[in-house]
Amino acid sequence: MPSRRSFLASLAALPLLPRSGWAATPVQLALAPLQQQIAPAQYGKTDLWGVNSSMPGPTLQARQGDRLKVQVNNGLPQETSMHWHGIRIENAMDGVPGLTQAPIAPGAEFTYDFALPDAGTYWYHSHAQSVEQVERGIQGPLIVAEHDAPDVDQDLVLMLDDIRLMQDAAVDPVFDHPHDMSHAGRMGNVMLTNGQIEARYPVQQGDRLRLRLINSANARIFALGLQGLTGWIMAYDGMPLTAPEEIPDQLLLAPAQRIDLIVDVTADAGEDAFLVQFERDGGYAQASFPVSAGTKSTRNMPAPLPPNPDHAITLGNARSATLRMEGGAMGGMRAAEWQGETQGMRSLAQAGQFWALNGVVGRPNAPLVRASIGETVKLTMVNDTAFPHAMHLHGMHFAEVLPGGGLGPLRDTLLMMRGETRTVAFNAHNPGKWLLHCHMLSHHAAGMGTWVEVT
Ligand code: C2O
Ligand code: CU
Repeated sequence: MPSRRSFLASLAALPLLPRSGWAATPVQLALAPLQQQIAPAQYGKTDLWGVNSSMPGPTLQARQGDRLKVQVNNGLPQETSMHWHGIRIENAMDGVPGLTQAPIAPGAEFTYDFALPDAGTYWYHSHAQSVEQVERGIQGPLIVAEHDAPDVDQDLVLMLDDIRLMQDAAVDPVFDHPHDMSHAGRMGNVMLTNGQIEARYPVQQGDRLRLRLINSANARIFALGLQGLTGWIMAYDGMPLTAPEEIPDQLLLAPAQRIDLIVDVTADAGEDAFLVQFERDGGYAQASFPVSAGTKSTRNMPAPLPPNPDHAITLGNARSATLRMEGGAMGGMRAAEWQGETQGMRSLAQAGQFWALNGVVGRPNAPLVRASIGETVKLTMVNDTAFPHAMHLHGMHFAEVLPGGGLGPLRDTLLMMRGETRTVAFNAHNPGKWLLHCHMLSHHAAGMGTWVEVT
């Protein structure tokens, strides 16, 4: 039984949503321009877009089984929408303009109202002009607590981002740069954790921490390591592992992916422990944990997190589909269908389009696959490009079909390296129109998106 005290302590720092009893009052999320110090002090503040006057936005905190009612007020100079990434949500609340809702006009509002069937680490972000809106700050964590949460001393959300600033600390305003769109996507030059360049979280020696890592960057694949912290992987993309796994020396976290860790502080008092971000030329502190003296003794491996509702994947009679990913620089694609016509690479590039899925650029009129509710869909994705992609399915989690025929862990976003072919399968339990796209946001904007329909 987790101790009540530690559970409450771990949530104390987060704004609690109203309990279900008075959930009639929606949470307000006001999207608006703001200025925030994110570059080193000598550069001054950066003009950003934020949620409730902060970037990233507030951590929404609810409990499994609650309903969440959120009123989004659009104070931005552009149309917007909000997507609740990883939530197995009702389709009309999924926040995809042109597929599940009309965009929210500047000055207008939209109320999202949906159930939270699963506990875990999720996030929300704009799904309109997302290359710009997510980069400027329309993003925040969404944490759904288990009824039976693990016993930890601190429950920390670490939202990892990168942002591209210019010399004067302004956000680089060119969001459709052809090089970004046709190569690896828009990479930042300033690394942020929860909106800070030097994020520090004081801990005690021997503390047990739950670290909820969220990659909210436009395109960066974070390669992460730990120093002075040892522990286990508990969940991917919100979904608990049936058994905790040891943390490898390097953890890859693709755009939009999440990993829940439970770690014990093993660094000595007076030292710092680190979440390290590896780059070609070394490792950098993505977050530091100054350690003070503690009295705790070492603990055993934690029990797995309680499972979320299961929707069985049965490969035997699955409906199959194939998704060929093509295009980009050095990709060899010569032509593709764009707005109903076959077009060569040059005219596609002029239209800011560089990628195709099954020969079609941009969201096609017909879905990639139509499935009936409860059917298993088996989807083979072929990355015939020179770049990695983070393929994300809305509305349902999938499992990778492993070479031996077994199933990997449930995820909502799969990192596919260049040249790879991978097969995933999911139970089409959730009716509606669901986007399937690359979460390198410049790639999505430049053509890498399709959808599946469940009826
Ligand atoms: Cu994180 Cu289509 O979204
Ligand atoms: Cu991509």
